[in-house]
Amino acid sequence: MSAKTILAPSILSVDFLNLGQELAACQSAGADWIHVDIMDGAFVPNITVGPLIVEACRRGTKLPLDVHLMIEQPERHIESFVKAGADRLTVHVEACPNLRSTLQFVQSLGVKAGVTLKPSTPAAMLQPVLSLVDLVLVMTVNPGFGGQKFIPEMFPKVAELRRMLDDIGSSAWLEVDGGVSEQTIPGLKAAGANVFVSGTAVFQHPQGTAAGVRALLAVLV
Ligand code: DX5
Ligand code: ZN
Repeated sequence: MSAKTILAPSILSVDFLNLGQELAACQSAGADWIHVDIMDGAFVPNITVGPLIVEACRRGTKLPLDVHLMIEQPERHIESFVKAGADRLTVHVEACPNLRSTLQFVQSLGVKAGVTLKPSTPAAMLQPVLSLVDLVLVMTVNPGFGGQKFIPEMFPKVAELRRMLDDIGSSAWLEVDGGVSEQTIPGLKAAGANVFVSGTAVFQHPQGTAAGVRALLAVLV
């Protein structure tokens, strides 16, 4: 596993009125990627943003855009998100009846492909595509909303996926998303995660976004 760790602020919790400034603050404070949560009000109860905001982020930062699709039939929209500037696209196993071909389609467009699963979905569901993917995302809250409480049962699931990736010699990123904070990062890192998505802890930090990024980077080293 690479020793490099990645911090990916999730703009779900940003002040969208100040998106450009907030992206600049993340970048200059040392964040590595920007995470964009796409929700359709069907796969999850909430509705967020679409390709237009991904395209705005693309103009607002040089950081890679890590796009998390919480939508039904994601294959209908993959090309739009690639055109908008996504660098990585992650789809849910629960939303993809033809998971392998969906992931291969993402890669055929020159973009990294990730797969993710809800907290109640067993890690074994990902086994058939592990050798193919560039990234595995373990949801550590139920997808749909920012600011939820981290589910501690996800620590062993992260460790299980770390073992599964190591067993096949995969160097895919192992990402965690939901309730990631100064408190939960040490345990998640010990379990083998190397990409840390965080919304509230970054954008709602009492001293501002740059301070939020720096506080998390300090526990990631
Ligand atoms: C939840 C999203 C997360 C969310 C994390 O469905 O996938 O990316 O923004 O937010 P926090 O860090 O507030 O739990
Ligand atoms: Zn996310």
